[in-house]
Amino acid sequence: MAEIAGKRIVLGVTGGIAAYKAAELTRLLVKAGATVDVVMTEAATRFVSAVTFQALSGRPVWSSLWSDENRSMAHIDLTRGADAVLVAPATADFLARLAHGMANDLLTTLCQARDCPLLVAPAMNRQMWEQPATQRNVAQLAADGVAVLGPAAGEQACGEVGEGRMLEAQEVFDALVAFVQPKPLAGKKVMLTAGPTFEALDPVRGLTNTSSGKMGFALARACAEAGAEVTLVAGPVCESQSSRYAAKRIDVVSALEMRDAVLAALPGQDVFIAVAAVADYRPASPSEHKIKKGAQTLSIELVANPDILAEVAARPDAPFCVGFAAESRNLAEYAEGKRKAKKLPLVVGNLVQDGLGGDTNQVTLFDATGAHPLPAGDKLAVARGIVSHIERLMKCPE
Ligand code: CTP
Repeated sequence: MAEIAGKRIVLGVTGGIAAYKAAELTRLLVKAGATVDVVMTEAATRFVSAVTFQALSGRPVWSSLWSDENRSMAHIDLTRGADAVLVAPATADFLARLAHGMANDLLTTLCQARDCPLLVAPAMNRQMWEQPATQRNVAQLAADGVAVLGPAAGEQACGEVGEGRMLEAQEVFDALVAFVQPKPLAGKKVMLTAGPTFEALDPVRGLTNTSSGKMGFALARACAEAGAEVTLVAGPVCESQSSRYAAKRIDVVSALEMRDAVLAALPGQDVFIAVAAVADYRPASPSEHKIKKGAQTLSIELVANPDILAEVAARPDAPFCVGFAAESRNLAEYAEGKRKAKKLPLVVGNLVQDGLGGDTNQVTLFDATGAHPLPAGDKLAVARGIVSHIERLMKCPE
């Protein structure tokens, strides 16, 4: 379950066609255990009925400063004790009113009266989004500390194509979950390696490792959620994996490229987490042209690749280094062996049969005090557990 259970979110809905996405967002939030108080502008009620949000949130829906059903101090009460106000969709008109401090309906009034963070997910036609006035307003809101989620580019309800679409409900949900997480790594820089490496044998073939990159990407996200500035050095992984949480992503292919990228980005990093399944060997002399079949046997000379993690950990200015050990047996013995050999404060060990390629994982953390198993779970939940442990060790080194 996403770590938003028990939080109270005020969801503002303004009058745009993307208001239907707010219904799905409400469902996602409620399913994850959050309490959602929906506040609609008058225009929003033209797109989606308040009854829809009432049914999905299981709570009253607010829309007017004046109507009888309202509490007299709704504009204040609703945000007291709330963890965030999220306005999705946020129209150009709403952003303009907000940027100018106006309070001429319930939603703008409670935004001005709030004592919790505010997030907005803009949604409008591309020309409206590109207007200097809109851009000025969004820049002003960002400068005022409002978190702006999106917008995305793509096909619009009006048939035009461009920037201005509201993010999908799941994307807004993910961003909100990230936003409300504790920020123990605020101000820290974290670099991770993820995915496999590919060591070319000829222009079309090569040696690689079985690694989806999912654990590394989940950890990058967990570090970003915890407030870190993340650099992700990724081997060849499936395109669909999102790295939008990383401030910087560097794509590499081979172990040598990964090493160069890591060393170049190393200065100033506080933490280095080596999740990548780096190929231990590479062909000594890759063929310039495709190797033709014919011979019954074929010998390929391999040379050892540099151990990126060991090299980083051995530097006098080494950041806090975390290694991974994916084993098929004797987990504790091998993982602890790697921790000592590479002089690491922490190794994350897992049995390959528990995590490889899938969406869940079960890991044990090995540090100077012993072995600490984490509960099995989806890779993001496991990643958050690893980040908490890193943060504890950095605070109180053994
Ligand atoms: N690692 C690295 N560079 C390498 C090899 C590994 O940075 N050339 C990192 C991995 O990202 C991981 C850890 O080191 O964090 C794994 O340690 P290693 O001893 O290399 O694991 P294996 O390659 O699996 O070793 P073995 O085959 O001996 O089990």
